Amino acid sequence: MNVRDITQKKSRGEKIVMLTAYDFPTAYFLDQGGIDIVLVGDSLANVVLGLESTTEVGMKEMLHHSKAVSRAVKNALVVGDMPFGSYQVDKQKALANARLFLDEGGCRAVKLEWFEDCAATAKAMVAEGMAVMGHVGLTPQTATQTGGMRVQGKDAASARRIIGNARDLEAAGCFAVVLECVPAELAAQITRQLKIPTIGIGAGVHCDGQVLVTHDLLGLTVRHSPKFSKKFVDLGPLMLQAFKQYRDDVASGRFPDDAHSFHMPPEERSKLR
Ligand code: KIV
Repeated sequence: MNVRDITQKKSRGEKIVMLTAYDFPTAYFLDQGGIDIVLVGDSLANVVLGLESTTEVGMKEMLHHSKAVSRAVKNALVVGDMPFGSYQVDKQKALANARLFLDEGGCRAVKLEWFEDCAATAKAMVAEGMAVMGHVGLTPQTATQTGGMRVQGKDAASARRIIGNARDLEAAGCFAVVLECVPAELAAQITRQLKIPTIGIGAGVHCDGQVLVTHDLLGLTVRHSPKFSKKFVDLGPLMLQAFKQYRDDVASGRFPDDAHSFHMPPEERSKLR
């Protein structure tokens, strides 16, 4: 998958399928499962590192996990989510950090959440040949300044603002835009207006593609799971069952049994004796 394959999916009316990954085995199975885009999301903070906010991860953690993910992926497009503070303050720093995601992290594109200077920053990255995905609507990195973690664009004025943001990102050269937590009607309108694909999360069915946080889909989210995410399997209780079984088997001496042990050849055993 490359950026062109992704944009062509929109022209062919085929849905784009995107999920998050933060480690080698998950990325491996997403890739094997035919997922188009694997996002190394800054949701790493909440779902894997147990932090309260996505603003608490930085370039060091994101690069560390990007490397693990890109080692596993052979087909999908790996996108690195630029963390809070890595692209908003200084454009040169933003370019250098985006370059690190591509050169060191092994990603093939970066994602930026909307902020005041987002379109200009995206444009500068595109001018340097980088593939950039935008993110509008609910932008968790700045949610405290924009009214909290809630649905955005429910009234005409804020909906118009989000449409404007998405259009600015398209004009800046972004190859796709994530629409997070906006009414389905607004997402449908943006999807119709843009030539680039929209990828929805909590944005209804009319987007060109969908993304979820993989841990929500697998039932591995320990804390709050948003209303829009769906548990496609409940792995949490299965993991718990396996851990308890292991604890009981070790405690009772049932594990390790002969099938999971090594033995010396008899002659070596007698020599040792
Ligand atoms: O970090 C993340 O997981 C994201 C998705 C919710 C799009 O940005």
